[in-house]
Amino acid sequence: MKAVTSNPLAQDLLRRIDGSTVRSGVIGLGYVGLPLAVALARGGATVVGLDIDTRKVDAIARGVSYISDVESEEVAELVVAGRLRATSDFSALASLDTVNICVPTPLRKTKDPDVSYMVAAVERVADHLHPGMLVILESTTYPGTTEELVQPLLEATGLVAGRDFFLAFSPERVDPGNPEFNTTNVPKVVGGLTETCAALAAALYERSIDRVVTVKSTKAAEMVKLLENTFRAVNIGLVNEIAMMCDTLGIDVWEVVEAAATKPFGFMPFYPGPGLGGHCIPIDPFYLSWKAKQNGFEARFIELAGQVNGHMPQYVVSKVADALNGKRKALNGARVLVLGVAYKRDVDDLRESPALDVMKTLKEKGADVAYSDPHVPALDGSLWDSPHSLHSLELDARTLDQFDCTVIVTDHQAFDYELILAHSDCVVDARNALGHRYAPSVVRLGAPLPRPMQSPVERKASQLSATQSQVGDIQRVA
Ligand SMILES: NC(=O)c1ccc[n+]([C@@H]2O[C@H](COP(=O)([O-])OP(=O)(O)OC[C@H]3O[C@@H](n4cnc5c(N)ncnc54)[C@H](O)[C@@H]3O)[C@@H](O)[C@H]2O)c1
Repeated sequence: MKAVTSNPLAQDLLRRIDGSTVRSGVIGLGYVGLPLAVALARGGATVVGLDIDTRKVDAIARGVSYISDVESEEVAELVVAGRLRATSDFSALASLDTVNICVPTPLRKTKDPDVSYMVAAVERVADHLHPGMLVILESTTYPGTTEELVQPLLEATGLVAGRDFFLAFSPERVDPGNPEFNTTNVPKVVGGLTETCAALAAALYERSIDRVVTVKSTKAAEMVKLLENTFRAVNIGLVNEIAMMCDTLGIDVWEVVEAAATKPFGFMPFYPGPGLGGHCIPIDPFYLSWKAKQNGFEARFIELAGQVNGHMPQYVVSKVADALNGKRKALNGARVLVLGVAYKRDVDDLRESPALDVMKTLKEKGADVAYSDPHVPALDGSLWDSPHSLHSLELDARTLDQFDCTVIVTDHQAFDYELILAHSDCVVDARNALGHRYAPSVVRLGAPLPRPMQSPVERKASQLSATQSQVGDIQRVA
């Protein structure tokens, strides 16, 4: 660091970071911000969390965590020790040395970036910006945001980035619900406006995060996050298309992916499902395609993956219709139980959840829809365009017996899959949650209808009939 700068403001900030006297702020105490605030406090900083949501601020004051990956005891311990507090009073920024911005970056209906939360947060920082302050943007955003949007808003104060204050971008990579990886053991990528900005941000993170990887610019750091999430979105799109293809060809996609995954190099398994969900994968790639379009570049993979993944909820509904059809029942008027409405296993997050689209489409086709999700006790009607709000049903034999079809949309571990098999005579499994269990009642996404194991004699007979029909086809063509 000393080699990088002779700037006394930077040297003073570095001394505070190294001496654990640094006062850090985190704006936005959600899935990303609260774990980060806790990690920074654990690393020696005195942390102030700033959020416009007073319920979150009050919860932290009481030592209560509302994020499943953060234990309440940990929050309470840090609050009691005076290392963590939360407030909605942004004047607290005036006394902070560093601030990380972790506010939402959703899309508008038109799939254009909605930067309003980010702008509002940066304007609050600008109100209290002072010499020597380090500002780090963590919200996922398009390449160029830090330089083109954040820097001018902060420099409107008359202070100059890289000289009077320091500016960096560092993407968050939290994976909610993943017990193996957390804020501390996932490497943190950092890009600074200048080398000094990057070095200061890296120094801050190094106190609490195992490994920090510095890239040459804020733009590169912004692009890293978008590459990671575009990679996921495109590969999920590919395997979803392969799943629909396998369905047409009478092949079990789950068996194919499992077998392909035994290749020790050059292949990484992705699994099909009911569509993308959460705050990242369905959204972030469109930040990139929007920016690319601004520069006359068409991001074809992103658009195509978006189309394929966006179609999956309808595909699931078509499987429900097929399954009911097999029972001589129509979707219109059928009672359908959706299992799992959170966007992924074992979390309570409903953002962009494909289950909501599945429910909406089922309702539009005349089905009578209910749901069960141990992580989501109630579901507001507005989330799936329904005049009715719903409560999660207890998943027991009595409930299952009442429905014409059960659809597994999210494979929570808490579900009793044996019970589902025993008490539902029509199941659509969009996640392969039932695995390789044979049951004539189960229709799996991306797999042919179930068939019991054939005896050698039956196998010979069906091969013979397939050969005869192919010969017939060839003769007809000839
Ligand atoms: N959730 C994830 O898995 C994840 C992973 C990596 C990156 N990200 C990115 O991190 C960012 C934050 O996501 P999140 O999931 O933590 O969102 P979140 O909705 O859980 O939390 C955001 C918080 O910001 C607060 N907020 C909004 N505007 C504010 C303002 N002007 N001032 C202060 N607080 C404000 C909200 O009240 C909320 O508590 C997004 O850009 C997201 O794309 C999220």
